[in-house]
Amino acid sequence: VNYLVEKTRGQIVDTLLTGLDRLEYRGYDSSGFAVDADKCNMNYVIKQVGKVSELRKLVKEANMDMSKRFSTHVGIAHNRWATHGQPSQKNAHPHRSDPAAEFLVVHNGNITNYRELKSLLESKGYFFETETDTECVAKLAKYVYDTHKGRLDFTELLKLVLVEIEGSYGILVKSIHYPGEVIAARNGSPLLVGIKSERKLKVDFVDVEFPDINIEAVPDDVTAGFNPRLSLPRSNGLLDAGNSLMVPGLHNDLRHSQSRAFISDDGMPIPTEFFLASDLAAVVEQTKKVIFLEDDDIAHIYDGGLHIHRVRREEGMSSIRSIQTIEMELQQIRKGNFDHFMLKEIFEQPESIVNTMRGRVNFENKTVKLGGLSNYISAIRRSRRIVMIACGTSYHSCLATRDLFEELTDIPISVEIASYFLDRRPPLFRDDTCIFVSQSGETADTILALKYCIERGAMCVGVVNGVGSAISRQTLCGVHINAGPEIGVASTKAYTSQYITLVMIALSLSEDRLSKQARRNEIIDGLGKISAQLEEVLTLNDKIQAVSETLVEKPKMLILGRGYQYATALEGALKIKEISYILAEGILTGELKHGPLALVDEDIPIIMIATKDKLFDKIINGIGQVTARSGKPIFIASQNGPALVEGNKKGNGVTESEGDPKSAEKSYVKFEVPETVDCLQGLLNIVILQIFGYWMAVKKGYNPDHPRNLAKAVTTE
Ligand code: G6P
Repeated sequence: VNYLVEKTRGQIVDTLLTGLDRLEYRGYDSSGFAVDADKCNMNYVIKQVGKVSELRKLVKEANMDMSKRFSTHVGIAHNRWATHGQPSQKNAHPHRSDPAAEFLVVHNGNITNYRELKSLLESKGYFFETETDTECVAKLAKYVYDTHKGRLDFTELLKLVLVEIEGSYGILVKSIHYPGEVIAARNGSPLLVGIKSERKLKVDFVDVEFPDINIEAVPDDVTAGFNPRLSLPRSNGLLDAGNSLMVPGLHNDLRHSQSRAFISDDGMPIPTEFFLASDLAAVVEQTKKVIFLEDDDIAHIYDGGLHIHRVRREEGMSSIRSIQTIEMELQQIRKGNFDHFMLKEIFEQPESIVNTMRGRVNFENKTVKLGGLSNYISAIRRSRRIVMIACGTSYHSCLATRDLFEELTDIPISVEIASYFLDRRPPLFRDDTCIFVSQSGETADTILALKYCIERGAMCVGVVNGVGSAISRQTLCGVHINAGPEIGVASTKAYTSQYITLVMIALSLSEDRLSKQARRNEIIDGLGKISAQLEEVLTLNDKIQAVSETLVEKPKMLILGRGYQYATALEGALKIKEISYILAEGILTGELKHGPLALVDEDIPIIMIATKDKLFDKIINGIGQVTARSGKPIFIASQNGPALVEGNKKGNGVTESEGDPKSAEKSYVKFEVPETVDCLQGLLNIVILQIFGYWMAVKKGYNPDHPRNLAKAVTTE
């Protein structure tokens, strides 16, 4: 939204398309936008299937006057990750209320009662054009508008719409009836407001925690005064047209009672631009000042002011929304010299893991201080159980560190996939601690699991990368992993930073245990060297590329690991399958003989993680089981480690050696990684598999940053 800031249509469209580029990692099956047409009772809506680049092409073909100037203007845009209805031009957002597009809506999330709303609206004569759940919001907005004969303020209108909607949403609504205005609302899906102003804003409220310019949100009672008059009697939970109410003068009353943070001392509105987005990446090149909206917030921008209302009145909800200054830099969300974000992020790891530990691990005194947990550490120590809950890669980081938590804390640990946890709804107690691990902090399954645990009184701890994210705000305490923005859909640097964060938490929890001191010191020393060792692993890039190219034609692959390396096997397999579409399976080496061994022959690619640790004899045993079935594993092994295969044996595929294990090994591909403490070894080993997955995808012609059917942050259940 630009208010009193003159822009050409070309600039406005460019701002929207750049925002879409930055958000492409959140969904990329289709995209679209709407901007004001030449008359204020019309919109231009352009939508296209595929990447934002396709939308750009369409914009070039469209016959819009890009030099037309606007001093106040609202544009909305969206990248889609299909949930209801296939990726198609028709199903792309924005969605309209009617052919004249009186109301236009973009939406992230999942409206669970859209079928009921759709049939109600169809019974009122509305014709649905798409298969999406979103369309019902646009049509419901028009229905409420018409029912109230246009007498409602945009906020009041949306309140009536939103109370009917079940499920999750982050929405933007634009309307020809409210030119120059926009409504943004959220429930369960992220939404923030970036603010860029030509002059210093009037400060309405200063929050000590964020000594910045803050605005006071509209207190509940401002709107509450109107609520009784506006609440509609319901029939079957849906709107009943017969009960429409009119409140003369409401429009004006409401406007004048709002916060005036964006009004200068002389009472004049300050020229301001507002950027509404689901993710910081979309606004960072425009402004560093943002407000993270809360669930049930309705942000209404008009006359250059931002006015935040609540959909419902709720006890205990803060009426302050602070304007925060974000630290993200533009270059962090650019590819730089790398072909893909994924490769950039893999190569960033020596630095990102240092950022995770910065100011927290003291390598001299061998201590770990996690500011976000310091007041809670002793309470966590007293828990009867620690439950780690996450999805995808984040879940694997929990698995990778479970053994260490058990060893250092002697507290029973369970690790849960959020969706499965919710399916089961297991018993949970007040003296349980639940740790929620999430890169984005916005994963719907994890958030729902968090809600479940909060309701049962458990202590909830967040481990997130996304600053200002739902999980970081809803947990009692936690640790930011500080890995910097991760754009590649396949998570890499977030994994290693989550892993290190969890190790740091385990170290903190055991700080009072004398018996664990030697082990803790060993691990802290290991952490001190890990960045340089990771750098060394990255030098294997060329060799990994060459080997991966020999395997791309293979349709399936096994990755074996045990003990600490079981998580590495699972995470490595996930990387390979999600971006190269090879059916890669991570297998616990101990389970080989219970089934997977049937798959082993001389043809199937097998990667065996065989770095030295206390399970080494068992690993050798597993290697024997594979090579005896003519399997020819590729090894991830310790530098200068012991021999992995026996001498020349019939059937193991070794031909040129005669009984000498070292020369027998020469016919196997082996990636040698530096040795670290057993519980940290996975940090180095996984990098080989990340790079492996990357090159297989590239060789197969796939874009590793945009794997088909996947999205970076899955904000729907
Ligand atoms: C999606 C992503 C995965 C990610 C998972 C959990 O499935 O594609 O890469 O690991 O969500 O995301 P989170 O943001 O909670 O870590």
